[in-house]
Amino acid sequence: MIRKCLFPAAGYGTRFLPATKAIPKEMLPVNTKPLIQYGVEEALEACCDTMAIVTGRGKRAIEDHFDISYELEHQLKSAKKEHLLKETIDVINNCAFTYIRQKEMKGLGHAILTGENLIGNEPFGVILADDLCINNNGKSVLGQMVDLYNRFKCPIVAIQEVESKDLDKYGVIDGVMLEDSIYEIKSMVEKPNPKDAPSNLAVIGRYILTPDIFPILYATTPDKRGEIQITDALNKYAKNNRVLAYVFKGTRYDCGSIDGFIKANVDLYNKMKA
Ligand code: G1P
Repeated sequence: MIRKCLFPAAGYGTRFLPATKAIPKEMLPVNTKPLIQYGVEEALEACCDTMAIVTGRGKRAIEDHFDISYELEHQLKSAKKEHLLKETIDVINNCAFTYIRQKEMKGLGHAILTGENLIGNEPFGVILADDLCINNNGKSVLGQMVDLYNRFKCPIVAIQEVESKDLDKYGVIDGVMLEDSIYEIKSMVEKPNPKDAPSNLAVIGRYILTPDIFPILYATTPDKRGEIQITDALNKYAKNNRVLAYVFKGTRYDCGSIDGFIKANVDLYNKMKA
């Protein structure tokens, strides 16, 4: 059973300054809903009941968002506008939120390690909220991965094909196709020079991990930017264990970039109006 989902959410969001000066980037709205709420709803759809959020300084708005707001709810009730908060209140009522602060930003692997106390000794999902995944009337992307985990009981990363010029923004896998949309990973590399990349299959921000990744992360040396990469830990793990890569069904928006964020807003707005 995958019950817990980890959300690394300590990053500064410098690409969105000045908007992110006092507001966490995870709280930027796509239409009217903050990015992180899309992630939490995806995890809920995948039957997770605990959201383990790795925050940092200046991220209190995330905790406030997933909490009751008596005054606002009272006001909305009097004005018969409760529907405006209904989705958010449903989310709050259907799962628990746990938080830990990452004191220093030392890479995604370090953020996941920081979350170890919230996860404990069980398999868990990881959602990077700035990769917004919309399933086109099917199962949520994390839900698809949970189904796969229940079959294979091993770590899984979500992948998609990207253009060669963009490979240096991602973890990239070298894999052998096991069945349609599923690869067994032979190795993986973080942000390769496109000319050295082992494939054009890039990892996007959805993972299922098992707790035996934690000791490997502890032993993983930081890269040349001083960051501990989950890609390096999984690469090590894959030498002796099965790790799968899954070509997910759905649309992913890179909301960590201005282009992707604007596109997500336009597409979801058009979908809402249609
Ligand atoms: C992180 C991971 C990378 C992955 C990407 C997906 O990179 O390190 O392997 O491909 O997320 O969005 P970041 O975008 O945080 O630099």
